[in-house]
Amino acid sequence: MIENFEGKVAVVTGASGGMGSAVAARLAGLGATVHGVDVSTEGTSPDGVTTAVCDITDPGAVRHTAAEILGAEGRVDFLVNAAGLVSTTRPVETIGDDEWSRLMGVNVDGAFYWMREVLPGMKERRSGKIVNVSSRAGRTLANFAGAHYSASKAALLGLTRQVALEAAPDNVHVNAIAPGLVETPMLSGSVDESRVEAARQATPLRRIGTTGDIAELVLFLLSPRSDYITGATVDINGGDLIL
Ligand SMILES: NC(=O)c1ccc[n+]([C@@H]2O[C@H](COP(=O)([O-])OP(=O)(O)OC[C@H]3O[C@@H](n4cnc5c(N)ncnc54)[C@H](O)[C@@H]3O)[C@@H](O)[C@H]2O)c1
Repeated sequence: MIENFEGKVAVVTGASGGMGSAVAARLAGLGATVHGVDVSTEGTSPDGVTTAVCDITDPGAVRHTAAEILGAEGRVDFLVNAAGLVSTTRPVETIGDDEWSRLMGVNVDGAFYWMREVLPGMKERRSGKIVNVSSRAGRTLANFAGAHYSASKAALLGLTRQVALEAAPDNVHVNAIAPGLVETPMLSGSVDESRVEAARQATPLRRIGTTGDIAELVLFLLSPRSDYITGATVDINGGDLIL
């Protein structure tokens, strides 16, 4: 089934990155008005997507950007929190205060700040869908990242569940996805190719995920086809983690 998102207004964080740009492009291609948000203007800026520079760890910047989008559009129907930071694997005792705070700031605080801005309007209109991009690392452990990454992604799942419960009576849906390895700048920048190849061989479906795989799942969770799903974490990992 091909969705039609005409008339819908979407905010996608991390829109210059691998997954965020793929989701933004697919939404725009299906008729949505898409506002991308990213701290960096480097990377892909898909056709039909308006991208604002916003550091999502700064609550004032998020408030300002959200107000501009809400002022221009009058509503936000979809929020996809795809911005994220990864870390290299390292012993927890070597993680500095700044590094811990930076990861938590992007992976948890940023999603919280954005949800806080868009939820009131969604609840008022009794319509809205939010997808938070967590990770397999938040479901179990990280093979290629540190404790701060796992902790941040697990925190995002807890945040998702609690907000889903609060927002459900107002018909606002909040879900998370938990990808395994996905071919994006984040992966190529943090894991060397030989380890990615080993992971590919160890994955039951014998491939690494693509941003297209992720975009399809996010579109499903934004569409009416998922209207009875909220508070869920959907694994997408080629069978790498089967629970
Ligand atoms: N690639 C993977 O293998 C993988 C696996 C599981 C989960 N994830 C998660 O998926 C999400 C998307 O990752 P990706 O692989 O597309 O990474 P990516 O690095 O390609 O994109 C992440 C984007 O987030 C943006 N960002 C970082 N800090 C920001 C900030 N303070 N404010 C605004 N934007 C900021 C970056 O500029 C970048 O464009 C992340 O949350 C990541 O943790 C990735």
